[in-house]
Amino acid sequence: MNDEYLRHRNGVAMLTKRLIQCKNPSASENEIFSWFMAGFLHDVGKEIIDRHHPGLLEKATPFTDEEWQIIRSHTVIGYEKLKESGIKEISDAASAALEHHERWDGTGYMGKKALDISLPGRVVAVADVYDALCHDRVYRKAWSKEAALDYVRQNSSILFDPAWVEVLITIEKNGG
Ligand SMILES: [Fe+2]
Ligand SMILES: [Fe+2]
Repeated sequence: MNDEYLRHRNGVAMLTKRLIQCKNPSASENEIFSWFMAGFLHDVGKEIIDRHHPGLLEKATPFTDEEWQIIRSHTVIGYEKLKESGIKEISDAASAALEHHERWDGTGYMGKKALDISLPGRVVAVADVYDALCHDRVYRKAWSKEAALDYVRQNSSILFDPAWVEVLITIEKNGG
């Protein structure tokens, strides 16, 4: 996997942890650890895809329908891998892996809507998009923090759970 993937999983893990600590300052070490892992492992299915389809995730040209299907399947593949492990501490990570591409308005991968989306799915969706926008990708340059935060704010109750958008705004207001 490329450096940006490795950076991104750390970035999402740290941000997910901060969102939880901001919302619930008395969260236990175990809870914080399991939320950190939810961020860290949300795209783990991509690592499995990368093994079977080397180079696919780094491809700069547009994806064919078939390639797009494979990439989209990283949610289910990651979920199954994490579930299979049977490790209790990563059950939030399994939910995050499965549901981080769900959208509040029901237009995401599986069409789950609002509070039907698991809590890990809703929290990691915010951290995932915000972290990705703030950094360079092969297909676009990084956005400024202000622009990325504006995007998330404008998509509150559309793509994202409004409660967690508010937490992100609070964190960024307090210096990021
Ligand atoms: Fe993803
Ligand atoms: Fe991601």
